[in-house]
Amino acid sequence: MIGHNKYLDLIGYLKENGFANRECIAKLCELDVAQAEQLTTNLLKLGAPFLLMNGSLALDEANIQEPLLLESILKNIDEEIDAELHLLLHTPSTNHYIKELALSGASIVALSECQTAGVGRSGKHWVSPFGSNIYFSLRRKIKTPLHHISPLSLIVGLAVIETLNQFGLNELKLKWPNDIYFDDRKLSGVLIEVVKHNKEFVDVIVGIGINLKLNLTDASGIDQKWIDIYSIKPDDRISRNEIISTLINTLDSFINRFEHVGFNDFRKAWQKVDYLFGKEVYTKGMRENSSGIAMGVAPWGELLIQSGADLIKISSGEVSVRLS
Ligand code: BTN
Repeated sequence: MIGHNKYLDLIGYLKENGFANRECIAKLCELDVAQAEQLTTNLLKLGAPFLLMNGSLALDEANIQEPLLLESILKNIDEEIDAELHLLLHTPSTNHYIKELALSGASIVALSECQTAGVGRSGKHWVSPFGSNIYFSLRRKIKTPLHHISPLSLIVGLAVIETLNQFGLNELKLKWPNDIYFDDRKLSGVLIEVVKHNKEFVDVIVGIGINLKLNLTDASGIDQKWIDIYSIKPDDRISRNEIISTLINTLDSFINRFEHVGFNDFRKAWQKVDYLFGKEVYTKGMRENSSGIAMGVAPWGELLIQSGADLIKISSGEVSVRLS
């Protein structure tokens, strides 16, 4: 398979010349002809925006979206941010990819055009078709002990909302701990994993999926109500690359603030976008289930539930809204 750079070269070539036969693809991608043929098959299988016409590859103009572009992302990233960017054509999961890398001083951000085995929370599959959404993973060391890390998950949700607000996407809500909702439908999800830790820092992966444009066929694999940015703002051409730069900037600033002052500083902002507040909910935890009325979040980010006379704190598990 080719890397992301060669994929861009191929798009550039097809834009200029209309089509490319296998000899041409072989030359462009430095492959032999048999490999070029295999590449064509693989690209089509991944859902890349190409069509096969009389044995030659052409651009599928109706389905091509803005590709990930390193320069466009880099030009809008704050100067003081020290991050390495990896752009991928495909990967099973950007979270898995980034876990295998050695983390030195700088943070790492991995982005992919598609994921062949995207992972959601609670072991669910994250639908990740080619080219249209954001599959983003950040790996960085957070200066805090492990027992203080859990509110990070809520802060990342806030950073996604702040990012999307900057593109005119308002009325977004956070369903504890960090699902981003619009109009009772899920727009984006966050999966945080701890790689390792010591007394001073926690090495974490922050995985974020944002639905930009999902077609009904791809979305048929989603087992909950979903929405994409395109359906909220059909007339705006919101750039994937610009969202990514803003997300990198916002995450960096929110995480730095979290390192210095903890979650309490963000609590008010969280309560303002709390999707569950006042709703009747039930939770499925690892050890116990509970139900009651959601009452916001505690100073350490736990979900508060009023259950009869008791105010319960939930620190992990799935929360469902009871439909009346
Ligand atoms: C959820 O279930 O709400 C979390 C979804 C997280 C999806 C993102 S997409 C980028 C990163 N790579 C993955 O495999 N998962 C996360």
